[in-house]
Amino acid sequence: MKLYALVTQFFAGNPTKNLKWKRQSRRKNCSNQFWFVLFFSVVMFLLLCFNHLFFENIKGFVYFPGKSAGSATYFPGKLRNNSKDSCLGRYTYVHDLPKRFNEDMIKDCPRIKDFDGSDSWKNSWFSTNQFMLEVSFHNRMQKYECLTDDFTIASAIFMPYYAGLDLRRHLWGFNTSMRDSSGVDLIAWLARKPEWKRNLGKDHFLISSRIARDFRRKSNRKSDWGSNFRVLPGSENITMLTIESGSSENDIAVPYPTYFHPSNDFQVHQWQEFIRKQNRPYLFSFAGARRSKQKGSIRAEIIDQCQSSNKLCNFLDCDSSINNCNNPANLMNLFQSSIFCLQPPGDSLTRRSTFDSILSGCIPVFFHPGSAYTQYV
Ligand SMILES: *[C@@H]1O[C@H](CO)[C@@H](O)[C@H](O)[C@H]1NC(C)=O
Ligand SMILES: *[C@@H]1O[C@H](CO)[C@@H](O)[C@H](O)[C@H]1NC(C)=O
Ligand SMILES: *[C@@H]1O[C@H](CO)[C@@H](O)[C@H](O)[C@H]1NC(C)=O
Repeated sequence: MKLYALVTQFFAGNPTKNLKWKRQSRRKNCSNQFWFVLFFSVVMFLLLCFNHLFFENIKGFVYFPGKSAGSATYFPGKLRNNSKDSCLGRYTYVHDLPKRFNEDMIKDCPRIKDFDGSDSWKNSWFSTNQFMLEVSFHNRMQKYECLTDDFTIASAIFMPYYAGLDLRRHLWGFNTSMRDSSGVDLIAWLARKPEWKRNLGKDHFLISSRIARDFRRKSNRKSDWGSNFRVLPGSENITMLTIESGSSENDIAVPYPTYFHPSNDFQVHQWQEFIRKQNRPYLFSFAGARRSKQKGSIRAEIIDQCQSSNKLCNFLDCDSSINNCNNPANLMNLFQSSIFCLQPPGDSLTRRSTFDSILSGCIPVFFHPGSAYTQYV
């Protein structure tokens, strides 16, 4: 029943901010197993929904966390008439941003190729780069059933700004003004719009394929990491869906995109059947690289123990290019043959690998609360 309640709550729009659930999980350390199972089930559910149901069944997609803890701000939009309209409260307006904020950034990208793995999965597996989440989400949003051209009836306003892709172009070797410039331009562009003025941006949201911290540079020294997009005056009222949330309560963590993009229920059931039949000869596995320069990283220890475990553990060394960790087939084969998949932090606390392992029916094992519990539960 609790799982049902949590899932219902997610679709009521406020999954990550439920303080009661959070407090309970902190208090009862001994019930970690329960929380793990709960988390696992919820994420499994989300993954399935995210790919093919997300914009069909989602309810209350348009609640945003308010400033005061635990409360939610809801923008009902202006109700036009009393007749029954299944989109009421769900209408979303999409900003028609100048192309330099989105399409221009991917103009010269090579086409995304199909993943040519085992034949039966050909139509539902693609070698999806995690940084493409902004593009996929934008495309999906354009097919959302409750879009409106009239912002006065919209409950949420989507800004199709490819924040992560934009930052990536200027992250290395550029000065801070280069890294910040399109964010600054965007906020200035928005401020002139009536759509913005209605709720001072509080009904606006965007999605980021990079972690929230990348947009919160601490100073203007060139050596500091990232851009200042999320610390700009004007950005604070916007909700950002991101692959890893940080300190701001307006940042909401969403699952990483995986390689699996089923186009119908049949493909989902087919995959579930396939996964249930897997033999899992390894107790645990790890795909990744050492982080020798990172102080206190547990990865080296995990790799050493895995390698000396005498066939209990399977290790895919991503430092070695022969192993090609970018090929979904290599990762899926590893995870499909293991019961537990270790997910130690890497560049940041969360990992896309967590979702790859869940899809493979492999139970993710976390080493830091920020890798899952404070993100998605
Ligand atoms: C009332 O709402 C319905 C359903 O959205 C719509 O078809 C109809 O045109 C609306 N009527 C007016 C007067 O806006
Ligand atoms: C930042 O770099 C760009 C070109 O890379 C240059 O045109 C601009 O003047 C630089 N800005 C500052 C403040 O140094
Ligand atoms: C953000 O919202 C607050 C009210 O909650 C408002 O005072 C502030 O001006 C808003 N920021 C912008 C840039 O509109």
